[in-house]
Amino acid sequence: MNRIITNSKVVVTGGAGFIGSNLCEVLLKQNNDVTCLDNFSTGFTHNIEAFLSNPKFKIIEGDIRNYKDCQKAVEGADYVLHQAALGSVPRSIVDPMTATDVNIGGFVKMLHAAAQAKVKRFVYAASSSTYGDSINLPKVEHIIGNALSPYAITKYVDELYAKNFSDLYGIETIGLRYFNVFGRRQDPNGAYAAVIPKFVQTLIKHESPLINGDGSFSRDFTYIDNVIQANQLAAITPTEVLLERMKGYNATRGIASNNSDDKSISEVFNVAFGERTNLNELVQILIDNLSKFDAEIANIQIQHGPNRAGDIPHSLASIEKGKTLLGYEPGYSIRKGLEEATEWYWENLK
Ligand SMILES: NC(=O)c1ccc[n+]([C@@H]2O[C@H](COP(=O)([O-])OP(=O)(O)OC[C@H]3O[C@@H](n4cnc5c(N)ncnc54)[C@H](O)[C@@H]3O)[C@@H](O)[C@H]2O)c1
Repeated sequence: MNRIITNSKVVVTGGAGFIGSNLCEVLLKQNNDVTCLDNFSTGFTHNIEAFLSNPKFKIIEGDIRNYKDCQKAVEGADYVLHQAALGSVPRSIVDPMTATDVNIGGFVKMLHAAAQAKVKRFVYAASSSTYGDSINLPKVEHIIGNALSPYAITKYVDELYAKNFSDLYGIETIGLRYFNVFGRRQDPNGAYAAVIPKFVQTLIKHESPLINGDGSFSRDFTYIDNVIQANQLAAITPTEVLLERMKGYNATRGIASNNSDDKSISEVFNVAFGERTNLNELVQILIDNLSKFDAEIANIQIQHGPNRAGDIPHSLASIEKGKTLLGYEPGYSIRKGLEEATEWYWENLK
């Protein structure tokens, strides 16, 4: 069965961001027409610079909160890979209104425009933050807890809208609950930077990385190439195949079907590697990797500060559902991914 998107028209919202630009790059290599809709609020021109001269790449500088921009982007599209959102739990605690406006308001506009345009499938970036305070480990898709931040609420509300629009308008939707994604082009700067690029940048500058808490908190860090694979499988796995596999999967686990008429698809999947690494271990791997380029980095000491509001202690995904239904097979462990990522950061940040 085909595992990659080829010869199609694909919309990537948030295509100038970290995950979106990586999706655009791979899709262009695979001979697709790619339309990127981005307002450059957290994305950058330098992320898409290399594609601007490609006639198969189209950039719409616009906002997912503007319905006309959404309509323009989805015209004639086969698939939408919706990545645009305001990420970061702390950002949403500081400014819950904008997070809600973009992540729910903008999401509904994109979803509605995609439903009207009758795209084949709407794949969207959901989040592991939806598991909230659930202590269940590993996280399985049908058991979630109470949300711990406005960001987590927005991502869960998106899932509810996706399911509802699938029932009402027949649009096929797949939400991918990403777990701490890392890799090339992830922004290391600013107050809301993700932990891996931030630590890499700090170490390259010979400064001590500051871990919130004692470093025992753990995450299922996920390399970008695993995320790209999941997006492609989510878009192209045929409806009949998914429905058939879903029946078997749900039956063996005693899960009620999420699809009311068993004809339209509306599912969510964890996207992770399925292994957890604590923050102390993470920093040690980064130090080991970067010391190969600069031996002095081996002597840098780690600092510890207070825990951060909204952070859960541990996160680990079950990836069984993705493996069984989509044929998801993440090829990159955290160590393999960090080797590539640190090399990229060394070339680009030093
Ligand atoms: N990186 C992770 O670990 C992670 C984890 C879980 C979920 N996610 C989700 O994955 C998606 C991509 O995340 P990322 O890490 O690439 O973040 P990013 O900030 O690098 O990319 C987001 C992109 O969306 C664009 N954008 C934001 N608001 C917009 C708007 N109103 N209209 C148009 N474009 C807009 C930004 O300019 C940026 O280019 C987001 O939906 C995020 O919530 C990411």
